[in-house]
Amino acid sequence: MKLAARVGKVSPSLTLAIAAKAKAMKEEGIEVCNFSAGEPDFDTPGHIKAAAKQALDEGKTKYGPAAGEPKLRQAIARKLKTDNNLDYQAENVIVTNGGKHSLFNLMMAIIEAGDEVIISAPFWLSYPQMVKLAGGVPVIVQTDALTGYKITPDQLARAVTPKTKLFVFNSPANPTGVVYTPTEIKALAEVVVEKDILVVSDEIYEKIIYDGAEHLSIGSLGSEIFERTITSSGFAKAYSMTGWRLGYLAGSVELIKAVSTIQGHSTSNVCTFAQYGAIAALESPQDCVEQMRQAFAERRQVMLERLNAIPGISCAPPDGAFYMFVKISKTGLTSLEFCDALLESQQVATIPGIAFGADDHIRLSYATDMTSIKKGMDRLEKFLQSRF
Ligand SMILES: Cc1ncc(COP(=O)(O)O)c(C=O)c1O
Repeated sequence: MKLAARVGKVSPSLTLAIAAKAKAMKEEGIEVCNFSAGEPDFDTPGHIKAAAKQALDEGKTKYGPAAGEPKLRQAIARKLKTDNNLDYQAENVIVTNGGKHSLFNLMMAIIEAGDEVIISAPFWLSYPQMVKLAGGVPVIVQTDALTGYKITPDQLARAVTPKTKLFVFNSPANPTGVVYTPTEIKALAEVVVEKDILVVSDEIYEKIIYDGAEHLSIGSLGSEIFERTITSSGFAKAYSMTGWRLGYLAGSVELIKAVSTIQGHSTSNVCTFAQYGAIAALESPQDCVEQMRQAFAERRQVMLERLNAIPGISCAPPDGAFYMFVKISKTGLTSLEFCDALLESQQVATIPGIAFGADDHIRLSYATDMTSIKKGMDRLEKFLQSRF
């Protein structure tokens, strides 16, 4: 069969592949310490599940509007006003099948063949692939540990060309855990406005921040940047709802209508009764979010201390999300060699940094229980002891 050329331009998700390999080893009875997954290990909070069950029992089992249940779109608009100081109405919001789907839809709606999209590396691995699927050209701006893995306003300005359409901004970030300060965000917003490009702000980890870090939505910094901002988020990380597939995108009415048309001809509405779970997530007290954040904070502390005590590797404290981005360059191994050897010899699953555009790093998720973290750190120590 001759596949479409666009398929040849993208590569399969390496994170999903490694997570699957670790799962398969577990099923064979091998005890794996799995730090590969980008999902909280907690169950979805009971009141969210109860609301979805109730909706199911009430017969909310039919097709709904492609852009989402009106009550959910309203609840998201309210959340964006209250939490993020973003002035969106329900008509500015579309409910999608996850943050990934939001971003994919966005690329399909705005990217023309040859349009350039600026992405700073290390990046969440799906960004460049989505741009390519939409016919665009990802323009990767490299950052490193020295600049705290943050793109500077100067780097952003220099990456802009007449073909630039969009800048992808992600704070808190996957895989680095970086959270940009309000001052840094303001400086980037100024470049976006001055160069008159669009920015998509992926804020999916906004609730998972530590040590007094502050989340600021770039679109809240004034009308000029607001007009150029598309805000993307979802329920997966904050509410431990990864399998529910629920996200949202907020922007101009014109954009949201276009995305709704794309959705109308591809996926239609998000699972109707699941959307009622999302309404409960937003409209109930947020204690569950804080409880999970605190658990992540404790795990982060333990993992960070253990990692930085192991000779040959190092890790800067991440201010957000639930990942450690560990520098492995001193080991002389590529990230793939490192992760493969670690999985084979010690049964510890991690993600090679090459997937995120940083081959001298690996990513460890600490969205897993403390026992696995301690055991995994013992094994990693043993793995590196044989080399240093
Ligand atoms: C930075 C970032 N954005 C978006 C997503 C998409 O999340 P979902 O599609 O599960 O809502 C993820 C998931 O790993 C992510 O890490």
